[in-house]
Amino acid sequence: MKVRTLLPSDRAGLLRLLDQSYDEVKRNPGLGESLRLERPKMSGQVKWFDEIRKLVRSGDAVFYVAEEKGDVIGFCSVVKKDIPESEMSHIGVLGVRVAEGWRGRGIGSKLMKQVLDKCKGKFEIVELFVFKPNEDAQRLYERFGFKAWGVAPRYIKRGKKYLDTVYMYLNL
Ligand SMILES: CC(C)(COP(=O)(O)OP(=O)(O)OC[C@H]1O[C@@H](n2cnc3c(N)ncnc32)[C@H](O)[C@@H]1OP(=O)(O)O)[C@@H](O)C(=O)NCCC(=O)NCCS
Repeated sequence: MKVRTLLPSDRAGLLRLLDQSYDEVKRNPGLGESLRLERPKMSGQVKWFDEIRKLVRSGDAVFYVAEEKGDVIGFCSVVKKDIPESEMSHIGVLGVRVAEGWRGRGIGSKLMKQVLDKCKGKFEIVELFVFKPNEDAQRLYERFGFKAWGVAPRYIKRGKKYLDTVYMYLNL
């Protein structure tokens, strides 16, 4: 397993990894990721990938993937909060996902470490939100120094069920 920066050749693998969330949520309705109501179409996702690559090139995003035998099995990203520049552009927003069969083996931690190191000098604060019941993930973020600063009640509406989210920040 290798952790490295995003390459153009990662497009299919990364989009597959993101798409898998929509199958996973059917088996695990508590999955700690916020999803679109409709599974995104591949054409839209290709556009998103091109935009992310542009942001990485311009220095407005840090994006690392975990690769195993040519396949993308995880990613971690921090993307500038406000583009074009604003008074919140010193903040980066973190996202992380590891493929189902690969969790609990240190891959998420390895990705986060490299991404957060790379964020130093680029962003002053990194923020994220996590579903309140996802205490495992909160512990993982706390190990990196993230602190919870508030709870947003009923922030996620999944079907008929509402979930609270916990907001966390890290001063780099
Ligand atoms: C959260 C996630 C990115 C962590 O990556 P990972 O490779 O499993 O993490 P690591 O192996 O480096 O660290 C494991 C830690 O993460 C926690 N963790 C969180 N969700 C987990 C999961 N679904 N499976 C295994 N470990 C998980 C473990 O409890 C462990 O903490 P502990 O050692 O205190 O018990 C990954 O588990 C994942 O993609 N989960 C599903 C989606 C999700 O919950 N995303 C959070 C979005 S805020």
